[in-house]
Amino acid sequence: MELRHLRYFVAVAEERNFTRAAERLHIAQPPLSRQIQQLEEELGVTLIEKGPRPLRLTEAGDFLLAHARPLLDQVRDLKAMTQRVGKLERTVSVGFVASTLYGQLPDIIRRYREGNPEVEVTLHEMTTIEQIKALKEGTIDVGFGRLKSEDSSIRRILLREERMAVALFPGHRLADATGGLRLLDLVNEPLLVYPKAPRPSFADQVLAVFAEANLAPDHVTEVRELQIAMGLVAAGQGIAIVPESVQGMHNRNLIYRPLDDKHAFSPILFSVRYMDRAPELENMLAAVYAVYDELGVAHVKEQL
Ligand code: BEZ
Repeated sequence: MELRHLRYFVAVAEERNFTRAAERLHIAQPPLSRQIQQLEEELGVTLIEKGPRPLRLTEAGDFLLAHARPLLDQVRDLKAMTQRVGKLERTVSVGFVASTLYGQLPDIIRRYREGNPEVEVTLHEMTTIEQIKALKEGTIDVGFGRLKSEDSSIRRILLREERMAVALFPGHRLADATGGLRLLDLVNEPLLVYPKAPRPSFADQVLAVFAEANLAPDHVTEVRELQIAMGLVAAGQGIAIVPESVQGMHNRNLIYRPLDDKHAFSPILFSVRYMDRAPELENMLAAVYAVYDELGVAHVKEQL
């Protein structure tokens, strides 16, 4: 069974029509029909029911379709990733979640640039889920994200677990509390979470922290991104739970309080394509740890 057979079969199965499938594949219909027939002969099963229009798949056809689609997606990603790895000379394209901009990201990128002046670095703000997709499509080479989502074509290193903090407006009843806040103090507050999409996202991490403590916030509003959440907090619309590095976002209408619950941490992950051995990536990782050491930031280096 060749990849060509799978591509042809998926086109016929999706179009439910040989003529349209042939058009989509830019081939004539007779060779398409012959290839499908060859595939059925090789497998010794019928994939497409004879007779009915539009075409219907047999049970074996449905099974093959369900498995062939992800396989073809993987082949497409593999092609894009290999092309990108081949081209990764003197350029590195970095995807990052917005909150890291207020933490160590600027120091890391500057340090990397100083040590590697010949490398062109580009930065792209995107969620962790978008980073995984972009790594597979070859549009970025490194992702700094926050979700521990698994994908066999991505290598992930946990850099550190960052404490969460609560963002409030200065007149808020909890603004002057001494010591850290607890989730229990926050359940009745209007809570702004971000980003709304794609999911899962940091929003789910925040809700999971409440769930771990057997709590559910009363009023949750999902907003598009970090900056919107912070603007709404400043306007007195609610509170937000953020990674503590967001405290670097100064605004006279925002204050931050530590969040003391034991699960209130958000990971920071370094993601690259599995088996991508470009020196630019190792140098980027080295820049991360050099900045941590310089600034005395507690960290780990755990392959996930
Ligand atoms: C950090 O804050 O730990 C961090 C931010 C961006 C990239 C890597 C690490």
